Amino acid sequence: MRIVVIGGSGRIGSYLVPRLVRAGHDVVSVSRGTSSPFVAAIEWDDVEVVTADREREDAVGEFVPRIRSLEPEVVVDLLCFTPESARRLVDGVRGEVEHLVHCGSIWRYGPSLSSPIREGAGTPPLGDYGVQKQAIAELMRAETAGGGLVTTVIDPGQIVGPGWTPIGPLGNRDPHAWQKLSAGEVLDIPGSGAEHLHHVHADDVAQVFQRAIDDRDASGGEDFHAVSTTALSAAGLAHHAARWFGREARLRSVGWDRFRELTTAPLASSSWEHLRRNHVISTEKSERVLGYQPRYSPEAALLESVRWLIDSGELDVPSPLIM
Ligand SMILES: NC(=O)c1ccc[n+]([C@@H]2O[C@H](COP(=O)([O-])OP(=O)(O)OC[C@H]3O[C@@H](n4cnc5c(N)ncnc54)[C@H](OP(=O)(O)O)[C@@H]3O)[C@@H](O)[C@H]2O)c1
Repeated sequence: MRIVVIGGSGRIGSYLVPRLVRAGHDVVSVSRGTSSPFVAAIEWDDVEVVTADREREDAVGEFVPRIRSLEPEVVVDLLCFTPESARRLVDGVRGEVEHLVHCGSIWRYGPSLSSPIREGAGTPPLGDYGVQKQAIAELMRAETAGGGLVTTVIDPGQIVGPGWTPIGPLGNRDPHAWQKLSAGEVLDIPGSGAEHLHHVHADDVAQVFQRAIDDRDASGGEDFHAVSTTALSAAGLAHHAARWFGREARLRSVGWDRFRELTTAPLASSSWEHLRRNHVISTEKSERVLGYQPRYSPEAALLESVRWLIDSGELDVPSPLIM
């Protein structure tokens, strides 16, 4: 099939595009051309790379005609954040494209009331990003249920992989957390440390997309989670990470007010946004309907990511990894 991937050189696309090429598809990756894929892969030699700025072209009505002109059978949209942008794409490719696979987010759900959260069964979203992602998911479902374009929504958790800094045990990207765990120092953790984060390796996210594309009959009109089969609490993540350095985690629970004094406002805000949701997300439907089999536990994905940070000189730690 001819597949256009919008935002194909990012975290997900770096794994998805080579997967689709290996599966024999004719793949086009659309991006501004300012970033390179996170992992080098020979399959990129067979990819048609199209340079376009969606925001700029969307503003003047040129983006969707461009996508249509590429004559895709499947469009994978990794770069859609508003219902207006989603609506333009859906209206513009209806009748031309067989399947639109949209990337959502588990932040379409608000704080957990019961776990694991099944597809569509979370609390209402908090904040603009989640509200828009939920509205897009509803738009896609209604489009397909109404007999229009066949769509699928895939909702990843916190994406991890080599090439970027992952969300760590404090619910943010603060490198000091890894450094303190590596040194065996006390780490001040906001709240009790019992709140969960639901990570996923980027290649496992790509696996869900690939399986949804492969089985349009099963995935059409549906949404699927893309997360690891288990989720780590903040404290659990810290305990795993300390052991990578041959240490035991020494955690001190501090109140949120104190935590905010101990860090910067952006880091405190990131922690609050991740931890207050306390997400544990179900993969049952992705496994049952699509045959999803994640290759990574969250701790294995995070270890790979932290190893990359250390090896590439992005993170200085006082003690080396022992595994
Ligand atoms: N990151 C997470 O933890 C996470 C979690 C849940 C859901 N998501 C969802 O995942 C999707 C993002 O996927 P990702 O994390 O793989 O993306 P990413 O790593 O941020 O990469 C973004 C991709 O889009 C391209 N791009 C950015 N702005 C563009 C523009 N204006 N016009 C054209 N191309 C543009 C980038 O290439 P250029 O820079 O070269 O243009 C790159 O290929 C979003 O829908 C997000 O809501 C992410």
